[in-house]
Amino acid sequence: MTQTPSIFAPASTPAFAIREVSFVVLGITAAIFLIVAGVAVYTLVRFGRRPVGPRQEPPQVYGSRQIELAWTVVPFLIVVVLFLVTARYIFAIERRPQPPSALEITVVGNQWWWEVRYPKLGIVTANEVHVPVSNPASPTPTFITLQSADVIHSFWIPQLAGKMDVIPNKTNRVWIDPRAPGTYVGQCAEYCGLEHALMLLVVVVHPPDEFNRWVARQQALPGDGASTTAGRELFASLACINCHSVRGTPGNGVFGPDLTHLMARSTLGAGAARNTPENLRAWVKDPAALKPGVLMPAMKLSNDQLDQLVAYLVTLR
Ligand code: CUA
Repeated sequence: MTQTPSIFAPASTPAFAIREVSFVVLGITAAIFLIVAGVAVYTLVRFGRRPVGPRQEPPQVYGSRQIELAWTVVPFLIVVVLFLVTARYIFAIERRPQPPSALEITVVGNQWWWEVRYPKLGIVTANEVHVPVSNPASPTPTFITLQSADVIHSFWIPQLAGKMDVIPNKTNRVWIDPRAPGTYVGQCAEYCGLEHALMLLVVVVHPPDEFNRWVARQQALPGDGASTTAGRELFASLACINCHSVRGTPGNGVFGPDLTHLMARSTLGAGAARNTPENLRAWVKDPAALKPGVLMPAMKLSNDQLDQLVAYLVTLR
């Protein structure tokens, strides 16, 4: 089930902390709003122009030390309180040490897709992060190392953690401990070029056994049906392999998403289209028709070549 990506529906410790601090900030600012708006409305009603009676100059007031002090000191104290509360939450989240049970993954922001690597498990995939659920009694959080291949992106899954910038030549970290299985969506949250809006992020949280099965499937080589030999040879003979990897084949490019288990993913082009054989054919034929500005070129393939290639690609499960 896909959840609404709202910060008010948290499912992981950092997101719960963000909701708490949001309520504190919203509470304080709501009180300020009510006081200021209340005084403004009272003044309008009480001191509005009267229809009858003599016109006279209102009393002129030149400064009041007490009032001026109050409207300087009180806002200053409010800002100090907001600062201290926020700083306390930030340190509590960012200083959390990584337990030995944690899953380690690396997410690399690219124009315009996410590479997801599991260095200790030997898995490379794209745009979809699969993690185990973290039971508070025996937590299995996921610690995510964030890197960029090109420009600044921002990794944001509102229900699981706060935004974290993904910056070239700098490594940032974020961690999540999702409490409930499900699908949590997010989006690149820093303008990064033409297709910034098509950098969908999906985090699929599995119960432990299901996660282990996912790992085993990802670690295996994809099925190698003899019926698709022509397509496989075509794939290996084209420029596809300069950018894409398929484990167990000559394809070892790293510029585009790893395709070893392409069909295990739900979308093409980081959310540009649902991953169906028809859309896959349209995508290979002319990626820019589905995602204008995409860096993958149209390969000018014939209809026969497209059919062969797609017949091969759909075996990458
Ligand atoms: Cu990547 Cu916006």
